[in-house]
Amino acid sequence: MTASAVPSTFDVAAVAAQFPILKREIDGKRIVYLDSGATAQKPEAVLDALDASLRLHNANIHRGVYALAQEATERFEGARERIARFVGGRPSETIFTKNVTEAINLVAYSWGRRNVGAGDTIVLTPMEHHSNIVPWQLLAQEVGAKLAYVDLTEDGRLDLDSLDALLAQGPKLVAVAHISNVLGTRNPIEEIVSRSHAAGALVLVDGAQAVPHGPVDVKALGADFYGFTGHKVYGPTGVGVLWARRELLEAMPPFLAGGDMIGQVDFESSTWRELPWKFEAGTTAYAEATALGTAIDWLGGLGVEAVRTHEAEITAYALERLAEVPGLTIYGPAAEHRGALVSFALDGVHPHDVADILGRSQICVRAGHHCAQPLMRRLGVPATTRASFAAHTTTAEVDALIDGLHGVRKVFQL
Ligand SMILES: Cc1ncc(COP(=O)(O)O)c(C=O)c1O
Repeated sequence: MTASAVPSTFDVAAVAAQFPILKREIDGKRIVYLDSGATAQKPEAVLDALDASLRLHNANIHRGVYALAQEATERFEGARERIARFVGGRPSETIFTKNVTEAINLVAYSWGRRNVGAGDTIVLTPMEHHSNIVPWQLLAQEVGAKLAYVDLTEDGRLDLDSLDALLAQGPKLVAVAHISNVLGTRNPIEEIVSRSHAAGALVLVDGAQAVPHGPVDVKALGADFYGFTGHKVYGPTGVGVLWARRELLEAMPPFLAGGDMIGQVDFESSTWRELPWKFEAGTTAYAEATALGTAIDWLGGLGVEAVRTHEAEITAYALERLAEVPGLTIYGPAAEHRGALVSFALDGVHPHDVADILGRSQICVRAGHHCAQPLMRRLGVPATTRASFAAHTTTAEVDALIDGLHGVRKVFQL
């Protein structure tokens, strides 16, 4: 398929034009940004919102009675409402965290320490990011619980028979990525949830690589906990989201303690505020959270279905074109089971060298273990190179990647 043959009604040029950074040149070359899986670039609307929050509306939230403080609070709580709606949740169940890592830690500490005990099992998958492994390791070590991992199929999907075998052991929790940040695998969350619930296990979903790339409805998925991170969804750094079922949050003790999350404080003991503030100790990153609301509005304005369709076309095109490069191994499943990223390795060249040489042409891809060292071990590789896509990615940028990979082969005389 050639670039012009890709059917799309999505005006990708108009989308890309909204990102000031994509107009930058380094060493006289335009940036080809294929690393949105690591962090998304920010559209003008989000930059403006962050600037306005600090420049025009800055006052600490939930405290002042003056108009400026009320304005800041309304902007912050308005963002929460829109973000909650965007993922199908209620504002009271939508907690601002620092990032998805903190969202998962919140659950591991607050829910985990109350509900997981000696001999209990937590089910994980080998494709988890470290942030959905290490908090469970700490919990398991502390309380004497066990971790068990679902098997992968040859093409990098979850083996649901192996999940069933683990569920038969009666685990307390299944913690799973919605979309793998390495294999790109889109996991069948509804199916995992229905099997897990039937076995009495709760399900936590790491949605870091899903929310930026298509519609997510936490209620339709049936998840108990769903986390995502602001900076990958076109928002600022320093803000993430944990959505969880209300009755779970009600029963959980606070994670962090301090200002803003309290009802009454006495010398010996305290009471907590109602949800969601019980879990938001200290001054939340309110300017960033407000701008995350704008990022969600911006993404919603493009149409999340349209974004998903566009990125599916780009990913299918990338898979097709990468297959033309001799000696290239692609990890992960076929296009229909994938999110918007592709990890690969070029025979005889270290993934870091691939990224380094591409980087000289300002083609920005990620190389390394992608914070998924157990998965690297399972794949039998030290690292992979990863190209990841966004609403602004064009087929011409995929073509630049392919030309760049041919260039890498030339450098290494392959
Ligand atoms: C699937 C997945 N989970 C978790 C994370 C961690 O995100 P953060 O560092 O923003 O907490 C990432 C980031 O790469 C990711 O891709």
